[in-house]
Amino acid sequence: MNDVRILIVDDDSITRQTLSMALDDDYQTITAGDGASALKMLDDEEIDLILSDLDMPGMTGIELLERVNQIQNPPPVIFITGQGTIETAVQAMKLGAYDYVSKPVNLDRLSLLIEKTLENKRLKEENISLKERLRENITDLNLIGSSPLMQKVTDLATQVAATKATVLIEGESGTGKELVTNMIHYHSPVAHGPFIKVNCSAFSEGVLESELFGHDKGAFTGAHATKKGRFELANGGTLFLDEIGEMPLSTQVKLLRFLQEKTFERVGGTKTIKVEVRIISATNRNLVEMVKEGDFREDLFYRLRVVKIEVPPLRKRKEDIPVLVEHFVKKFSHLHGRPIAGISKEFMEAVTNYNWPGNVRELINCVESAVVMCRGDIIDIEAIPDYLNLLPADGGGDLEGGLLQEMEKKIIGEVLGETGGDKTQSAKRLGIGLRTLYRKIEKYNLPG
Ligand SMILES: Nc1ncnc2c1ncn2[C@@H]1O[C@H](COP(=O)(O)OP(=O)(O)OP(=O)(O)O)[C@@H](O)[C@H]1O
Ligand SMILES: [Mg+2]
Repeated sequence: MNDVRILIVDDDSITRQTLSMALDDDYQTITAGDGASALKMLDDEEIDLILSDLDMPGMTGIELLERVNQIQNPPPVIFITGQGTIETAVQAMKLGAYDYVSKPVNLDRLSLLIEKTLENKRLKEENISLKERLRENITDLNLIGSSPLMQKVTDLATQVAATKATVLIEGESGTGKELVTNMIHYHSPVAHGPFIKVNCSAFSEGVLESELFGHDKGAFTGAHATKKGRFELANGGTLFLDEIGEMPLSTQVKLLRFLQEKTFERVGGTKTIKVEVRIISATNRNLVEMVKEGDFREDLFYRLRVVKIEVPPLRKRKEDIPVLVEHFVKKFSHLHGRPIAGISKEFMEAVTNYNWPGNVRELINCVESAVVMCRGDIIDIEAIPDYLNLLPADGGGDLEGGLLQEMEKKIIGEVLGETGGDKTQSAKRLGIGLRTLYRKIEKYNLPG
């Protein structure tokens, strides 16, 4: 039996039972004796297909169909018609019913029809996701850059794409974390399935939980109808949790349970929902530090980081800069209708020397502006936006030998001396994490 759920609506209890028993081997079935209770069930449960009588006291089949079609993503409806209601059945098809079968029902024909209907529904959903894919301009799926560091990222992403493993992507802002996520999803076995993205920092605490897990009608003021969360929408596909470091602890608990059991309840709901979803999360924060500070659950951290992909900052793979520049010059020259014949050596040198604190995103903006601003058809140094020249060529946040660093080195050295080299105590006194202390000891070559 698969988890397709069919709702059978008929006022005749014998027909209900017969159909339910006939379909029970292959599907999950639930039954309703009239239109009103059918609508209530639709409100409470996930239904994939409705099999309904046309001629019922109270709400007729047609009226039921009209109400069903007001639901978001309505399930397909197949009607069962008695003698003399064929005309109504034809009318029902015009109103959007999928098909009809006449009584007495031929079970083989009904089974075929159900399969055809479900296949059609699946194709429709797939079509939607293909359209989304086109909208996202998925031609840009490849990571540009062949530096060893980038090659490692590409290899890892390709390797993990084929699996269902949970992935954590770490990297500074603008390094390409979302691009890596796209690449994994669209190269995975569920590439045709849904691909849902949530930015955890974009919602307040309560709203994030209901966005992710959905809510039941009446769960809180304003919850007028049951709403599916992103986990349910992502069923059979990928859920991207961006800026996972911003997720509040209370939501972290619920996410942890999902990763352990693949189940959750909607906010205010009692029904346990099970979905099949691959989780990819990303962050530009240091989760290890956050765990130490108690801002991120350690158990969740390990569950999320089954596979870790670290996207390196652009300044650590400068050899990728020329190919990136060439690629984006081509792209923007086409986009803005500005024929560009070449790029000067000085321009390439300048952008290669720069440290790009905003990483690839900043580089792309610079190239676009250069293409637009450049006077002739050669991109030269004068096309570089002014603000780049203001920054030291080897700058960024990590200037070597600055006064601040001298001070830092001195203070850490002193505290280590005072504590007799006790790192835990030193870290506490310095007000930094233990891991940070180790990093700094190494950086400044202090006696550890
Ligand atoms: N290696 C690459 N090749 C081609 N384009 C890239 C590459 N890396 C990043 N980009 C492009 O740079 C831009 C920024 O990348 P992306 O949005 O993936 O960064 P991010 O790491 O998610 O940043 P943030 O943390 O700020 O959300 C995007 O337009 C992306 O397509
Ligand atoms: Mg991003």
